[in-house]
Amino acid sequence: MPADRRKPLHSDFEMHLQKQPYTVDLDGFSLDVDEDVFPPDLGLCAQNMSRLCQQYAARIALDMGCGSGYLALSLHRSGISEVWASDIHFPAVACAQKNVKRNAPDGGIHVLQSDLFSNIPDSIKFDLIVFNQPFGPGEGEPVCGCGSDGGYEITKRFLLEMPSHLSQGGVAVMAFSDREPERNSPDHVARELGYPIKTLLHKYYGEANNYVFEIRPPSDSSSAR
Ligand SMILES: C[S@@+](CC[C@H](N)C(=O)[O-])C[C@H]1O[C@@H](n2cnc3c(N)ncnc32)[C@H](O)[C@@H]1O
Repeated sequence: MPADRRKPLHSDFEMHLQKQPYTVDLDGFSLDVDEDVFPPDLGLCAQNMSRLCQQYAARIALDMGCGSGYLALSLHRSGISEVWASDIHFPAVACAQKNVKRNAPDGGIHVLQSDLFSNIPDSIKFDLIVFNQPFGPGEGEPVCGCGSDGGYEITKRFLLEMPSHLSQGGVAVMAFSDREPERNSPDHVARELGYPIKTLLHKYYGEANNYVFEIRPPSDSSSAR
């Protein structure tokens, strides 16, 4: 994506985009990061989420907005027998499929293209849904599948849809960096909707505060499932 057709990105993101396509070894996975696929090795956000998700005894999990497929692979390696990985952006879906084939050829990870839950079968109830969502809205052309609906809008849409896709006791895990205004934070949106939220991680990395949150559906919607 030519830089003049999109909003300026922070320098580290720009550097990762400049070297695409590339292959990176992340936590023992050999990952292709194709053109216009979100770099899983940008900062520590995805790796923090991967580590924190190890605590959940999930049987079936979803990596929403999977990008390269890194989080789906790490969920699968942690012992979750059935993992789904979905992304709206076709280059990400193709890239994740390639990385899954190379790193987890046993067939336990299903990759598909979907705008949030639109193509996810309603019959499947997830114990864990991880979404490293676009933290803020883009301007101009989408970058790595992240467009103008990032931040508040996509987070609210996701949180409204996710209760009916969770099993009883299931949770969602989302991240945030306060490079973006607080209004875009899952913490803010979840509170607005009355969803219980717990901060799993808060770290300051020199330029911004980074967070990982666990979000549960409100009790009335979980009893309705
Ligand atoms: C910040 S990237 C995270 C990628 C990957 N999970 C990771 O941690 O490296 C956000 C991802 O969400 C995807 N995405 C954006 N809007 C989406 C939507 N409406 N439905 C599904 N995925 C979406 C983007 O294509 C992008 O791959």
